[in-house]
Amino acid sequence: MTPLSVFRDGLFDGKTAVVTGGGSGIGKAIAIELGRLGAKVMIGARKQERLEAATAELTELGIDVAWSVCNIREDEQIAAMMVATVERFGSIDILVNNAGGQFPSPAGYVRTKGWKAVQETNLQGTFVCCREAYTAWMQKHGGAIVNIVADMWRGFPGMVHTGAARAGVVNMTQTLAVEWAHNGIRVNGVAPGIVMSSGVATYDPFFQEQFLAMKENIPAKRLGTVWEVASAVAWLASQGAAFVSGDTLRVDGAGSLWRLHWEVPEHTAMPPYGGE
Ligand code: ADE
Repeated sequence: MTPLSVFRDGLFDGKTAVVTGGGSGIGKAIAIELGRLGAKVMIGARKQERLEAATAELTELGIDVAWSVCNIREDEQIAAMMVATVERFGSIDILVNNAGGQFPSPAGYVRTKGWKAVQETNLQGTFVCCREAYTAWMQKHGGAIVNIVADMWRGFPGMVHTGAARAGVVNMTQTLAVEWAHNGIRVNGVAPGIVMSSGVATYDPFFQEQFLAMKENIPAKRLGTVWEVASAVAWLASQGAAFVSGDTLRVDGAGSLWRLHWEVPEHTAMPPYGGE
């Protein structure tokens, strides 16, 4: 279900947004949210078929969208996507670094190759996207960057590599917010908790069941929706957040806060916004 936006029509008229990982899941919802509020949108991802399918969907919604095949572990592909965005749409006002990837493994079994791959994707890839958007447009014209991270605030057992990488992105967000303030660039993050996105359907049944059961450990007593993440991104990218920079906003139903000594009764008092 695609809910109506909570923001006003035309909020992003005249703006251009780049959304990495924009072909599916949370990234596609962010691309739709920014696009239906008036932004022209460049979506990047590794798989052309996925980008073409998402482009058809966004076009159907009346969004001016383009795609670029972009593996964020490849600097040249990132640079090419930023240059193509300025050529096609004339600016890069908003960059959403949503692309990322990891694999579950106990820390003792993570090989250096796997560790490096996850750092290259989530930490280095996010940095290079920021740098290339800065070089191609934002250094001279300003802009807003939103980095999507994860709920790693209390460590990330089972995914040590991505916990470390995402914590690195939170720190990088703070540094860039300071270094690039005088360029008119705001840099923020969004840390989603457990979100019901299209990717969950691809998990094997055992992990799907485990995933759904996690709602018991979230004070909201439910998983998040992709639209709840997308609307946080839209606010941070908007003028409403003009004095917000260097922060990372948790969108997790208070899941990162709860400690087990407190029982949250079953309830339905925090109903979802949208769903998938
Ligand atoms: N999603 C997961 N890994 C990615 C990568 N290396 N580039 C772009 N999107 C990704």
